[in-house]
Amino acid sequence: MSDAPIIAQKAPYPIEVTAGKSYFWCACGKSSSQPFCDGSHKDTGISPTKYTAEADRTVYFCGCKASAKAPLCDGAHNKL
Ligand code: FES
Ligand code: FES
Repeated sequence: MSDAPIIAQKAPYPIEVTAGKSYFWCACGKSSSQPFCDGSHKDTGISPTKYTAEADRTVYFCGCKASAKAPLCDGAHNKL
């Protein structure tokens, strides 16, 4: 059974990603190293989401954990 994710913040985290590099987005909201997983999901039944960057650019990782396009922000935080 999975717990519901908690809101880390009601705004995205802008992160400069590097092409070809993989990132593990925190889906549970409990990580202290937002927006990335630090292992704190251990007892939640939630797993991080892997994101592999296709280009060097700034992407907006979801902080509210309610995005339908996770791990990226889709604006859902505006309705929370
Ligand atoms: Fe949140 Fe790992 S700490 S998914
Ligand atoms: Fe979650 Fe924008 S921060 S949808």
